[in-house]
Amino acid sequence: MNLLDIKNLTLEIDVAGQWVKALDKVNLVIFEGQIHALVGESGSGKSLIVKAIVGALPQRWRITADRMTWRGQNLLTMSASARRDLIRNDISVIFQNPKGSLDPLLTLGEQLKEIIPDSSCEAKWFWPSRSEKQRLAIELLHRVGIKDHDLCMRSYPHQISNDVCQKFMIAMALASEPKLIIADDPTRGMEITAKSQILKLLTRVNQVRKLSILFVSHDLLAISSMAHYMTVLYCGQSVESGNMLQLKKRALHPYTQALLDSAPSFRKDLPPKSTLSSLDGTIPTLQHLPTGCRLGPRCPRARRECVVVPAVRRVHEHYYSCHFPLHWDKI
Ligand SMILES: Nc1ncnc2c1ncn2[C@@H]1O[C@H](COP(=O)(O)OP(=O)(O)OP(=O)(O)O)[C@@H](O)[C@H]1O
Ligand code: SF4
Ligand SMILES: [Mg+2]
Repeated sequence: MNLLDIKNLTLEIDVAGQWVKALDKVNLVIFEGQIHALVGESGSGKSLIVKAIVGALPQRWRITADRMTWRGQNLLTMSASARRDLIRNDISVIFQNPKGSLDPLLTLGEQLKEIIPDSSCEAKWFWPSRSEKQRLAIELLHRVGIKDHDLCMRSYPHQISNDVCQKFMIAMALASEPKLIIADDPTRGMEITAKSQILKLLTRVNQVRKLSILFVSHDLLAISSMAHYMTVLYCGQSVESGNMLQLKKRALHPYTQALLDSAPSFRKDLPPKSTLSSLDGTIPTLQHLPTGCRLGPRCPRARRECVVVPAVRRVHEHYYSCHFPLHWDKI
């Protein structure tokens, strides 16, 4: 069963007085129990999609979609408060800047206990006791690999390291027992050991609790071994999506292939706006988007026909948008 179903999501934002399509007909479907990777270079619109899903975009921006449902319920037509309740109950988000999303004036322990729902406490018929929440909070910290729970609980956000913060955010995400965790680039800037701990943790959460995860990253190497499905985003457009193994074996879109070819150099966490080793140039700014296929100016396979936006094509469960896909003799 699909949890989230987004079809043709378009977001227009005003940049320096000009309306531009920061997201253009994006499709994204997340199934129950699935780890879904959303990848693309810095600036491709990954975080905008996350914010669009949870309704955290500025009101003045224009958002449209043919379909945007959560477990069959239309997110676009429901009231803001109904949507907030739904998101709070079912979806946990680990935002890209985790420290920024924590309250700097409260200890981590206070913040974690606050988010544990009363219904999780065993003493359901009484007012859930503080000690019961304390016990659950410690259990959560241990589950995400934070051993020194005392130190963590009494620390303020600025007193912990980035990787402990990221583990803590996962504990926060698990506390509300969601159906979907959205992790927006949780391993950016981490060294390899901390990165692999986070990846293992999320994989375990997926396997043990059957939780769906939308794993947003520009780090294809990190997620290619854990994700079941992948959507590739370029410059606000979803250019290819499909089963992870299938995409790794036979990517059809030149951009996906370029990401795969560049993967080893991603080990060092490329800074934003870096060049891909296998593609010329960098991602264009929103004010200077090319007409037609947005990859056109950088694409080694581009031809005249590419000034027309390529339609979404489908081969079994593999979707791509390109006039001249790779391996097309084998499709
Ligand atoms: N508040 C904003 N105002 C204007 N432009 C914005 C705003 N937020 C994002 N953008 C632009 O939208 C585009 C997509 O941004 P987004 O943050 O979604 O990229 P991203 O794929 O998450 O990148 P990264 O990997 O660096 O996190 C970028 O060109 C960015 O400059
Ligand atoms: S449509 Fe053309 S420019 Fe776009 S990715 Fe395909 S070949 Fe390249
Ligand atoms: Mg981002």
